[in-house]
Amino acid sequence: MSRLIVVSNRLPALGKGVAAGGLAVALEAALKDKGGLWLGWSGKTAEEPGPPDVQEEGAVRYAALDLTAADVAGYYEGISNSVLWPLCHYRADLLEFNRADMESYLSVNRKFAEALVPMLRPDDLIWVHDYHLIPLAAALREMGVKNRIGYFHHIPWPAQDLFRALPRAAVFLSAILAYDVVGLQTRADARNLREALDATRHDLEASTPPRGTRIGAYPISIDTAAFAARAKRARDLPRIRELHRRFGPRDMVIGVDRLDYSKGLPERLRAIEQLLENHSGLHDRVSFLQITPASRSGIEGYDRIQQEVAERAGRLNAAYGTLDWVPVRYINRAFSHSLLAGLYRLSKVGLVTPLRDGMNLVAKEYVAAQDPEDPGVLVLSQFAGAAAEMEAALIVNPHDVEEVAGAMARALTMSVEERRDRHSAIMRRLEAWPVAVWAKSFLSDLQPARTRDAVRQPSDLG
Ligand code: G6P
Repeated sequence: MSRLIVVSNRLPALGKGVAAGGLAVALEAALKDKGGLWLGWSGKTAEEPGPPDVQEEGAVRYAALDLTAADVAGYYEGISNSVLWPLCHYRADLLEFNRADMESYLSVNRKFAEALVPMLRPDDLIWVHDYHLIPLAAALREMGVKNRIGYFHHIPWPAQDLFRALPRAAVFLSAILAYDVVGLQTRADARNLREALDATRHDLEASTPPRGTRIGAYPISIDTAAFAARAKRARDLPRIRELHRRFGPRDMVIGVDRLDYSKGLPERLRAIEQLLENHSGLHDRVSFLQITPASRSGIEGYDRIQQEVAERAGRLNAAYGTLDWVPVRYINRAFSHSLLAGLYRLSKVGLVTPLRDGMNLVAKEYVAAQDPEDPGVLVLSQFAGAAAEMEAALIVNPHDVEEVAGAMARALTMSVEERRDRHSAIMRRLEAWPVAVWAKSFLSDLQPARTRDAVRQPSDLG
């Protein structure tokens, strides 16, 4: 059986007592099943990085590569997070491209390839994750690697008219064609990528030997049953019991997002303000909890959003708060999965209102965490990839503050019958397509045709 090689910018947090995320759990399960290796950036810098540091855990080896400070500036902060991230999230205004960063991005991808080549066996399946590493397959091919290589793009692929704004776009597109399988979150993303390839096909064919790259939608998911069980157990956590007592008769509305301009946090706070303005009966009866771990500080756009959200939350509390009611609790730190699962279950409404998002797993976790007999309601942006699979949520345009406020009011007063119907409709989908099936479906397409298993496709699930 072929081994699985996973490559991503970040490695799962090993031995730090932190619960692994759904993706790490799913990939680790696939790695344990097949045996294999996970290569990523160590998160550290060194003046002269050596070969990756390898740790073994059972059948899996984790290889952590150091980078230089200049690599991090050009590859991670530069092209990954100041070009590809804003562009793919429709923020071309934040794009900051320069050629030196592009050289650094390509050179770090070559460094990943150089680190990987000596560890490869001819029948290994290689699965590359996310926009930091788009040119990795091309770098491996240049070094003579013939293995099957797949790429999964976790973030949106923008519409062609916007993608055209990307300097050196042809380099990224010809790099895409060095993969055997390219997975995107939604059919719309897959269509956008195909359009970009069609628009440049003529130039690409001259420079890239065709390998019949398969492009498809493989919507990522969560470990639905495990998350639901974790949320049920979390009821008994002392911290959750205490919060339950403290919130008492007030309804809780929760938002959990990494601090990022794509998450629509200022718009969300304006919607909360609108709700409180329109419904004085809700004053003192509803509390908003916004958990937002800070992210990518020092990169253009992030420091600004940090300040804007904190100021808005402060102004809202000053305007509406009372001696015993703080309308919005805004917290800049991360919590364990168990605590989050418990908080989701306590919350009457889950607010997931990004302006753009590849998928958004918080939406899926919020629904999976609910008590099926008395579930909360998900208010979900039409611009999250998850909206394509969660029609039974209250779908909103996050730019329309009145609409989001109206959806929250509706969610807070919805009958238990309607809440149950909406919840079970979404759960059916989440149970049929958990993250393990997602991984299996991608890997089955990545395997050479002769060894493929029959796995249901997302389109078969309705
Ligand atoms: C998104 C990306 C991931 C990335 C994560 C955290 O979910 O798709 O690839 O790892 O954000 O961002 P960071 O820059 O801290 O790795």
